[in-house]
Amino acid sequence: MNKQRVYIETYGCQMNVADTEIVKGILSRSGYSFTENAELADVILINTCAIREHAEERIYGRLGAFRTIKKHNPDLVVGILGCMAERLRKQLIEEEQVVDLVAGPDEYRRLPELIDTALVGEKGIAVRLSKTETYDDIEPYREDGISAWIAVMRGCDKFCTFCVVPFTRGRERSRPLMSIVDEVKELTRRGFKEVNLLGQNVNSYRDGEYDFADLLAAVAKVDPTMRVRFITSHPQDFSDKLIHTIAEYENICNYIHLPIQSGSNRILELMNRTYTVEHYLERVETARKIIPGVSFSTDIIAGFPTETEEDHQMTLEILRKVRFDGAFMFKYSPRERTKAFEMGDDIPDEVKTQRLNEIIELQQKISYEINQDLIGKVVEVLIEGFSKKSKDFYMGRTDTNKIVILPKEDLEIGDYCVAKIIRANSATLFAEKAEKLERSNRITKYAEV
Ligand code: SAH
Ligand code: SF4
Ligand code: F3S
Repeated sequence: MNKQRVYIETYGCQMNVADTEIVKGILSRSGYSFTENAELADVILINTCAIREHAEERIYGRLGAFRTIKKHNPDLVVGILGCMAERLRKQLIEEEQVVDLVAGPDEYRRLPELIDTALVGEKGIAVRLSKTETYDDIEPYREDGISAWIAVMRGCDKFCTFCVVPFTRGRERSRPLMSIVDEVKELTRRGFKEVNLLGQNVNSYRDGEYDFADLLAAVAKVDPTMRVRFITSHPQDFSDKLIHTIAEYENICNYIHLPIQSGSNRILELMNRTYTVEHYLERVETARKIIPGVSFSTDIIAGFPTETEEDHQMTLEILRKVRFDGAFMFKYSPRERTKAFEMGDDIPDEVKTQRLNEIIELQQKISYEINQDLIGKVVEVLIEGFSKKSKDFYMGRTDTNKIVILPKEDLEIGDYCVAKIIRANSATLFAEKAEKLERSNRITKYAEV
């Protein structure tokens, strides 16, 4: 009966991207349709992130824009979903006139009811966290495409002292292995070429006797022409079994995102990361031995409470030692309720900025050098879409998660091809002469020409 049109904006990590598909699955079941245009919507939902203060500031900015739309359309319902909804709860409704409903990450089943209530003028709030909710029976609403995301677990029990996620997403819980495998089968049937398994710490995945390596192997077996990626791994739980599984299956991508956060053992301890720099280096070394050509990326936080210049130098040193292919680098942002919040925020902003800039500059130099070494080599690329800058070129990715811009030739989106790299910067490879590759000819390592 319901013909309301919903517009959704998504911020934050891939988990939110996957959650938005769940939300759309729930809403389409209840008869809602979707629009890409906020001005045509009856309901606007924002799936939010709370990881750093800046993430929340952006959302407040968007609320300003929705306030303007609501002036022209007073019946419009505006809802906040996701981690910021969970963190700020009632405060959002009380302080932001424009907000009609607030729903945390484990309450999306109640959205149809909350929206109906809001449509008759009553504000609603649902922020209970669950120990069991995985939305396992909900079919995510996905457009056809090349790459799909599946949340295989939710929540986080690690309680790193800087991090708000255990508070916004609650306790760890996993989806059953068989239902994930069934979903992957359906994705191959629909022509998807890549699946990304998601979790805040995928290494904690558990379904009875099955661990994450078992899940990865089971997913890889579904279709050998389908790429399998996964994020995020935690250095403490990154097991030999997992490393061997990645090596064993050709379609499990040789790319590992392994956040280190700091190069100083003193800071790592204050962060409650539960590993040392030495342990981290040993894991990287082992993986590089067993999976030749594997690429690594990481996350770094600059300016954690009490971080000295010496600690900072140790972070730069670890970047030089590991030589990551890429990194996500952040200024420390204090979050209420976390342990680190109580440690104060004693590093002045100018110092954080200075350190962050040094980290970024060094990492870009390293990424640039690593990519320069690929010039003249042939890489295997899965074509994902058009280049952002020109429809005459395609954009694809190597197995090692590097972005490649390549000429269209007679290739199609979704094809695997081999391409010769002729130019590179720190973020992108540029190729000439791409040639279609049947799966049976796939190469995994870089070939010399
Ligand atoms: N689960 C993943 C990542 C979660 S958030 C993991 O364990 O690594 C992604 C990244 O945001 C983190 O790795 C961390 O580098 C950064 N981050 C989290 N909280 C932060 C904070 N309070 N200030 C700055 N960066 C933060
Ligand atoms: Fe946050 Fe740590 Fe959990 Fe990652 S592992 S989500 S950084 S608490
Ligand atoms: Fe942000 Fe929540 Fe993801 S805080 S990073 S959207 S888990």
